[in-house]
Amino acid sequence: SAEEKRRRMIIATMRKNGYAPDALIETLHTVQSAYGYLDATELRFVANELHIPPSLVYGVATFYHAFTLKPEGHHRCILCQGTACYIKGSPAILRAVTKAYHITPGETTEDGEISLLTARCLGSCSLAPAAIMDEDVVGNLTPERTLAALEGWTK
Ligand code: FES
Repeated sequence: SAEEKRRRMIIATMRKNGYAPDALIETLHTVQSAYGYLDATELRFVANELHIPPSLVYGVATFYHAFTLKPEGHHRCILCQGTACYIKGSPAILRAVTKAYHITPGETTEDGEISLLTARCLGSCSLAPAAIMDEDVVGNLTPERTLAALEGWTK
């Protein structure tokens, strides 16, 4: 099953590192890429296998921004905060979204609908301020247009 396949990947990473405690970060990366986030059951499994206290594993998991503890939302919004977009008002867009949805970059709304991310440049500076909404690059955004697009997702 998919579950078993993911578990095998995680075990392979730990085995490759001789189950040494300092394999933790690499193992967490494997969990994250297998699941898209750090699954709680797998975190307990890893803590047990590497003989590391679960609290320490959670500490590491929450300390590094590369890791997320929740599955990604159904939709993903990446707001560009690169220079070109910044000059054209991307901070106001970010503020509007964080305020409206009570999430900061890297977080997902409570209902699991929207994950908010930021990027340094989306390679679409001529469209600044730009964002990626799911698979689409959208440009010339304003806070209002951005909120309207997100609202379209949650209807
Ligand atoms: Fe935003 Fe380049 S800075 S797309």
